[in-house]
Amino acid sequence: MKKILIIEKQLSARELLLKLLGNKELQLFSVEDGMGALELLKKRSFDLIFSDLNGIQTLNRSNRRPLGTPLIHLRTEEDPLVQEVDAVLNHPFEIQGIERILQKLKKNSRVVIAQSPQMKQILQRVEKIAQSHSNVFISGESGTGKEVIAGMIHHLSKRAAYAFIRVNCAALPDTLIESEFFGHEKGAFTGALQRRIGRFELADLGTLLLDEISEIPASLQAKLLRVVQEQEFERVGGTEPIRVDVRLISTSNRNMKAATAENTFREDLYYRLNVVPIHLPPLRERQEDIIPLAEHFLREVCARNQISLKTLSEGAQKKLLNYSWPGNIRELRNVIEHGVVMQDADQIDANHLFLDPCLSQTSSIIPAPNTLKELEKQHILHTLERYQGNRTRTAKELGISVRTLRNKLKLF
Ligand SMILES: Nc1ncnc2c1ncn2[C@@H]1O[C@H](COP(=O)(O)OP(=O)(O)OP(=O)(O)O)[C@@H](O)[C@H]1O
Ligand SMILES: [Mg+2]
Repeated sequence: MKKILIIEKQLSARELLLKLLGNKELQLFSVEDGMGALELLKKRSFDLIFSDLNGIQTLNRSNRRPLGTPLIHLRTEEDPLVQEVDAVLNHPFEIQGIERILQKLKKNSRVVIAQSPQMKQILQRVEKIAQSHSNVFISGESGTGKEVIAGMIHHLSKRAAYAFIRVNCAALPDTLIESEFFGHEKGAFTGALQRRIGRFELADLGTLLLDEISEIPASLQAKLLRVVQEQEFERVGGTEPIRVDVRLISTSNRNMKAATAENTFREDLYYRLNVVPIHLPPLRERQEDIIPLAEHFLREVCARNQISLKTLSEGAQKKLLNYSWPGNIRELRNVIEHGVVMQDADQIDANHLFLDPCLSQTSSIIPAPNTLKELEKQHILHTLERYQGNRTRTAKELGISVRTLRNKLKLF
């Protein structure tokens, strides 16, 4: 049975949360402040902690915040945005919000690290943006945290109790994308054996994340424009108009201005989606985030593997700071994870961190390819490595479909 700790000063809020969590298979403990929590933490561990702002501050100050236990901020309207929490539950609490948090935590934790002035400023904006209903466009290189920021906007918004639905536009074949967006009626096309609800309907009252929006086909751009303008559409093969209330967050790592200039993306649609722009700078331009992120991933990896917390030597930190991070935060996460696996001792040194193997030592020892096939193989593997194994990005860079890439990889 999972053990949950609630730290909440307000009696009514505490009771409401106990009641909402009460009919689940959970063992609940509640205290009114951080001092009470520290007493309890001496005796037992918890799987999850809900806490008001004071409680979070006490835990952080005490240095006894349990490693690896997700912490949820029970946030009142006056509270500032707190970093280093895994999720936010806004007052007044609602059961849907709680369920979504519990589900989400099963999958992954959601701490957002932001120490650089650029990221601090972005988080301040995010907090304000979350309170509006405007469509948001997040741009930035691959691995800079676009999805993380999109999730944050949803979870801080009034829509947090409703669905956060994501659709990866680059991964869907053109033939399926329309039905994926808008659903279809039974018999709409060969293979449509029953009615299907699309992502727009699933996201009603919540947020829809259109990931890698630049990749949608021209035919769908026109249809999407209408939905964005009127919040109304028909399922494929249907005639009945369906009204939805959805906030759209789109992301792209392409230069959208260039895409509109080249007419590969409709300008009118871009302006509708890009009401509030957020640009995430690459990691190399936010040096102050590198070490806090690395330490965050260290905590995460060590907790996940149930090993004692490792530290980074001064040399290791220098090496991380001097690197250009073409794969951004995703690459940093992989490097740290690899470093933890490679090192048994408590401190990770520079030589345990493998950075950009393609550009440094390895490329010189790879023999020159003899055949065109071999050359293709090396190029594909090299690109895959550069994008940290991300097949969507690799396929895009190589100008082939994800399916073609998959087939080629099977043959190697
Ligand atoms: N500020 C942050 N704090 C902690 N972790 C982060 C932060 N930003 C990104 N990450 C982590 O880095 C990885 C990449 O982030 P994310 O998937 O959001 O990037 P992205 O910009 O959507 O990349 P892509 O363009 O390739 O889809 C994820 O594992 C995410 O959890
Ligand atoms: Mg992404």
